[in-house]
Amino acid sequence: MHNNSAPHSDAQNAANIGSQSTEHPVTVNTTGNTTGTPHTGFTNTTGIPSTDSTNATGDPSKDTTSDESRRAQAVAEIAAAKNAIRTARMAAAEADAVSKAVINLNDKRLQLSELSTDAALELLRVNTMPYQKLMTYYRCAIMEVETKFKVLNEELSLSYERNPIESIKGRIKTPESIFRKMRQKDIPVSIETVEEHINDIAGIRIICSFIDDIYTIAESFLMQDDVTLIAIKDYIKNPKPGGYRSLHLIISIPIFLQNEKRNMKVEVQLRTIAMDFWASLEHKIRYKKHIPENEAALLARELLECADQSAALDEKMQVIKNRLKHLGETT
Ligand code: GTP
Ligand code: MG
Repeated sequence: MHNNSAPHSDAQNAANIGSQSTEHPVTVNTTGNTTGTPHTGFTNTTGIPSTDSTNATGDPSKDTTSDESRRAQAVAEIAAAKNAIRTARMAAAEADAVSKAVINLNDKRLQLSELSTDAALELLRVNTMPYQKLMTYYRCAIMEVETKFKVLNEELSLSYERNPIESIKGRIKTPESIFRKMRQKDIPVSIETVEEHINDIAGIRIICSFIDDIYTIAESFLMQDDVTLIAIKDYIKNPKPGGYRSLHLIISIPIFLQNEKRNMKVEVQLRTIAMDFWASLEHKIRYKKHIPENEAALLARELLECADQSAALDEKMQVIKNRLKHLGETT
């Protein structure tokens, strides 16, 4: 019954909308009719000229069966068309929602993209400049201190016939860490307060071979006339209750800039390989969350035991080294 040469039926057009066909854009109006293709209306979806209850011959007594079947078919086709239009409306509503979501997404992208504008970049640069500048000064201070320890290592390696320094590691405290510490100390954040109250923004860790290397190197470093000692914490002679051992120095050192000389604070931690081994592993474990209380107590005891063992190892290695040195001098 379908005429192939006939224009698209509403059902077909509706199906096109449902499948988001873009080749033949079709829109659905509020009455459910479609536009964009010649309108055939609900009553004639087949393309065949409209018939009413009378047949084509004009004789109502003839061919009533075919009349009824045609009517039934027409009813079925109308129902199908209505169904297709309902589907199309739902698809259109969905498409509308999708396009609104896309617009929202684009709005967000627009806001993000605004951050890459010259104005935003300039704002960011100007606002973070004092902080970046301060961090640069701390990096310079680390370089100065690092060089001093490298020089000492070079010189001492001549007389010792070995390098007393195993490694040197410098680091700048992260902004998160700085601001968290300021909050803990309940101090309002400014460039001046950060510089005044945080001693370990620039940190340098010196890993030595033996315990007495730590004291020899620290003493030579502190003797230098541009190094000012602010504080010393000897956690080797007085280990922390948890077992932590290291020698800490808070010092101030000048850095020479284009037009000024600036004194910067640096935290120097000196440890042996064994102390560093313990501290590194303990640090990793300590930051593990959700340890039950009884487990935590047990772990703390075991960590302390490890610290004692590593301290005993350091002392034993020191004794062996001293004996070998003595043997070398007497034989
Ligand atoms: P922080 O606020 O943590 O810097 O401590 P503080 O200002 O009281 O100084 P302290 O000398 O106690 O510690 C300074 C640094 O030593 C820490 O930032 C750590 O790098 C290290 N440290 C101190 N105690 C421990 C410890 O128990 N375990 C480990 N792994 N490291 C420690
Ligand atoms: Mg610290």
